[in-house]
Amino acid sequence: MVTSSAPGKVYLFGEHAVVYGEPAVPCAVEQRARVTAERQAAGLSVHTADLTLDGFTVEYSGDATGQPDIDVSDSLVEAAMGYVNEAVEQARDAADTPAAGFEVTIESDIPLGAGLGSSAAVAVAAIDAATRELGVELSREELADRAYRVEHTVQDGQASRADTFCSTMGGAVRVEGEDCRVAEAPELPFVIGYDGGAGDTGALVSEVRDLRSSYDFAADTVGAIGDIVRRGEQALSEGDVSEVGRLMNFNHGLLSALGVSSRSLDAMVWAARDAGALGAKLTGAGGGGCMVALDETPETAAALDYTPGCERSFRAELDTDGVRTEDGKGSGGHT
Ligand code: PMV
Repeated sequence: MVTSSAPGKVYLFGEHAVVYGEPAVPCAVEQRARVTAERQAAGLSVHTADLTLDGFTVEYSGDATGQPDIDVSDSLVEAAMGYVNEAVEQARDAADTPAAGFEVTIESDIPLGAGLGSSAAVAVAAIDAATRELGVELSREELADRAYRVEHTVQDGQASRADTFCSTMGGAVRVEGEDCRVAEAPELPFVIGYDGGAGDTGALVSEVRDLRSSYDFAADTVGAIGDIVRRGEQALSEGDVSEVGRLMNFNHGLLSALGVSSRSLDAMVWAARDAGALGAKLTGAGGGGCMVALDETPETAAALDYTPGCERSFRAELDTDGVRTEDGKGSGGHT
């Protein structure tokens, strides 16, 4: 039995634009998904506890098309099962054991579909745990690539490498198309506001794609986000946290122009700015879910707690570990 965990992430800059080849800078945060994989004779059994939905257990053999008989909405089951099923397929492929059976247990601190990279963290941790259970240790690069393939398959080809690379490596990363690298970042005082909801990543990506092909100014907006990311990288390497905040504000404005913000996200962003945050923006696909602000004082978190539409606020530390094993056999054993 092997347990691995991987962190969620916030986007400092560049979500949506990254889908069209612009750079993005996500940062891993200390909110983790933990996945335990244990060999069983055949098939796949999945137990989940905390995917911010009621715990459920699914047992089936074969692939994710088998319809489990359980009492939660089909779309949530499909989403959760799709990622786990594809991750286990990747592990079987990596270990060249196509028939290996698994019992998989998932626990997660990361709200589902809320812009904090829950699906990427589950995919990364699941591949890591299942391959180790099969006696294979993947390099971080291969693990990130296989986790990307999971997201790419489950999200019908609408995924960048940003979430999965960030969750695997930890820290701040820079992703531009196929080019993924670890980035420099100073200490960043993240405060996250969560509206209790979720956005539909696939639908939001499609809407931005349509806008971009219908309006030149929408295409220019996507390009302008790329410019913000490049300026942001410079500010990060100079340790200029105030400038990082200013650029986050710009980035939120452009995401809003592309139609992916929401009333609750905007309310939380403005509450953070009014409370003196250095910057605030939505994170991830948008439509609902989480925003991220920079504030080392307690003011932003306090203001968010009184903001209508904010269900919860919390401070999040930058996670520098990325994926790790949790079973005491030595963490960070990756090459
Ligand atoms: O909301 P999340 O955490 O799934 O992030 C989506 C980020 C997008 O840029 C909108 C899509 C992608 O795959 O990069």
